[in-house]
Amino acid sequence: MVIKIRDNIYAVGARDPQVRIFHGYATPYGATYNAYLVHDDQSDKWVLIDNVKALFTEEFIRNIEEVIPVERIDYVIQNHIEPDHSGSCPAIFGRIPNAPIYCTAGAQKGLKAYYKQDFNCQPVKLGDTLNTGKYTFHFVPAPMVHWPDSMLTYLAEEKILFSNDAFGQHICPDNAFYDDELGYDRLMERAGDYYANIVLPFGTQVQGLLKQAAKLDIELVCPSHGVMLRKYIGEMVGAYDRWSQNQVQEDKVVIVYDSMWGSTAEMAEQIRADFANAGKQVSVHCLKDEHYSQVMGDVLEAKFIFVGSSTLNNNMMPTVSAFLTYMRGLKPKDRVGMAFGSYGWSGESVKQVEDVLGGLGWTVLPLRKQLYRG
Ligand code: FEO
Repeated sequence: MVIKIRDNIYAVGARDPQVRIFHGYATPYGATYNAYLVHDDQSDKWVLIDNVKALFTEEFIRNIEEVIPVERIDYVIQNHIEPDHSGSCPAIFGRIPNAPIYCTAGAQKGLKAYYKQDFNCQPVKLGDTLNTGKYTFHFVPAPMVHWPDSMLTYLAEEKILFSNDAFGQHICPDNAFYDDELGYDRLMERAGDYYANIVLPFGTQVQGLLKQAAKLDIELVCPSHGVMLRKYIGEMVGAYDRWSQNQVQEDKVVIVYDSMWGSTAEMAEQIRADFANAGKQVSVHCLKDEHYSQVMGDVLEAKFIFVGSSTLNNNMMPTVSAFLTYMRGLKPKDRVGMAFGSYGWSGESVKQVEDVLGGLGWTVLPLRKQLYRG
């Protein structure tokens, strides 16, 4: 599908409505791999911004060729080389071997490592530009938002920020291409889920990126996943500012658990009722029913994270272990945790969960000893 977003700018990326796990992250609403074609109609130069996942190379080429033959592309800007944005590079670059590829030095190295060949890369740094005649593309490296090679590209004359993974959302709607078409609540829910699962460890780097973005006059944000932003840019930047400063809701409680025979589930319900009665916002996630990554959107702004597990063969439940391993990698900071769980034969799970929560540097409440053991 090709979307004309300006007279001479097209979204030509691929849609992946069926994907349900994206490198370990649940994507119940699918994903898109956005890429963009820009035509400088004064110089008649064509610029391709980003590529797509390898599996979608044919669809991508079909989309490009609804606009121009691939061989007409004069320049490529490769903002990021994770395979969801670079898998089609060998096929595309093979057809335009002389087109310069503007990317960071890290991306140049990564492309060579991934695809075992040298491409015609032109490494760029902050302040570098590509001038095509009437257009100037400004490169804004954003290391660790969320990979070392990541960058964004700002097209000054059109006031468009091609933000790659930043400000993305994993969703593949049939009839919404812009934020206002998706609706504010759905946009922010998907963007929060995405931030929590992809960007959360990199708050300091996001703050640096926001400082760069604040210098730009932006009318449209074109990310590499999900819908484009034209109405809620300020709200999205504000949310990234809050999330990257680790601002949480002091009255928000997330309870995550798995249970063998229902005892730990009863404890989860008791804890939920106690905190709800105390006026807290409480959400409960049973890891039998939900993928561990689906909890993270709630963890993003919650002060209190309570984790429950039965003891199975002297260990916590494997689902809980998976959740904790995943959350530990995403490094949510300054939370208050509590472990709970039924005793089983020997009751090791609670201490094991406490150790992980404490290892995150959180305050770990001992409440279960007084209230919930048994
Ligand atoms: Fe969407 Fe970092 O890849």
